[in-house]
Amino acid sequence: MATAQDLNLQHRQQFEQIAAQSISDGSFVRMLLSKYQGTEPLIRLDVTPLQIKGELQLRFVSEYKTNHITKIRPVAEGISLLSEMLDGSFKQGHLFTAEQECQLSISKKGKYLFNCQRVASAVVARPAAEHNRQKHRFVEQNRPFLTALGVTDQQGQVIPAMSNKWKQINKFIEVLQGAVKETGLLQAKQLHVADFGSGKAYLTFAMHDYFCHTLGLTAQITGVELRQSLVDLCNNTAADLQLAGLQFEQGDVKHFQARGINVMVALHACDVATDYAINMGIRTGAEIIMCSPCCHKEIRPQIRLPEVMAPMLIHGVHLGQEAEMVTDSLRALLLEAYGYQTKVFEFISLEHTSKNKMILATKRKKTKDNSAVLQQIAAIKQFYGIKQQCLEQLLQA
Ligand SMILES: C[S@@+](CC[C@H](N)C(=O)[O-])C[C@H]1O[C@@H](n2cnc3c(N)ncnc32)[C@H](O)[C@@H]1O
Repeated sequence: MATAQDLNLQHRQQFEQIAAQSISDGSFVRMLLSKYQGTEPLIRLDVTPLQIKGELQLRFVSEYKTNHITKIRPVAEGISLLSEMLDGSFKQGHLFTAEQECQLSISKKGKYLFNCQRVASAVVARPAAEHNRQKHRFVEQNRPFLTALGVTDQQGQVIPAMSNKWKQINKFIEVLQGAVKETGLLQAKQLHVADFGSGKAYLTFAMHDYFCHTLGLTAQITGVELRQSLVDLCNNTAADLQLAGLQFEQGDVKHFQARGINVMVALHACDVATDYAINMGIRTGAEIIMCSPCCHKEIRPQIRLPEVMAPMLIHGVHLGQEAEMVTDSLRALLLEAYGYQTKVFEFISLEHTSKNKMILATKRKKTKDNSAVLQQIAAIKQFYGIKQQCLEQLLQA
């Protein structure tokens, strides 16, 4: 008769068997291991399948606090590596296959908790509503870059955990498409695009796909990123997919030298990195500048509370929101003053991500007197007691 310990181990074995089976029958999508218990500053391990020269391999991406390390392993070695890691290094495992989602966790007392669910019909066989909605997508769901980045599985279905990212990618391309039409870049013979703070580069790959595959243009797209490990990861993925014209460079937007950029993108680049990116976009004469600012730190400590507003802004949360609004309003006005038509809007609703504001600027065909806008900027600064704003200083330098 099976003992309680046998039954406990069976849960782990079941989890491993489903993983191994899905890898061998091609239905494996991804495994995420978290709650690491060892001595390294490791946050999680992300395992996905990868085809190299027609051979299935497993890609292990170890996410540390400050960097990522990628290792590619042959299938058999990868499976035994996973088994070792489930033996205590990680306390939680999520397995995604084309048919099911399974979870294994280890309690404090060493008990394995296991459950498996068949994936909703929305993923295996999409109902009509989903099918109809797909017609309005701006990125084709079966594009290889989406699978390589772990947004879709080998069958081209969106991985449930990545559905927000999928929505964000589509919304981003929808906005970009409008700006490309407005500025006449569709007629450009050769396009140069820079993405500052490209991170894991979902949107950089999406831009490459949009310009080169959807529009059939020749484009050079460069992702600039502070972290070397992400640069290597993205360059390897671009090489695996044989994407010409897409490259990633390690660099700090504050010191990066760029020329002849048509589209300057900086999405969620931290604090004044957004100002440096906008400054570079303006100076290189980019037709489109798109940024989604985050981590606004510069203005808040400078704000002197206007008397009437003091009772409102005494609350830290309100002061933070006000400082963010003032910062982005100044950026939008400076763009206007330097020859752009500017819109500030919600990029994607709060239900999908909290970083949701976009400043979209398209270059005006004709120059306009900017003295009224410069006066507005000065009046806002005076009202709030603001002494300095990074973008303004960079533009005046
Ligand atoms: C929140 S991530 C956003 C990634 C991507 N743009 C997106 O929206 O999905 C911000 C990235 O900007 C990078 N970053 C921050 N400051 C930077 C700087 N001064 N120069 C270049 N990259 C920077 C960070 O390393 C990080 O990967």
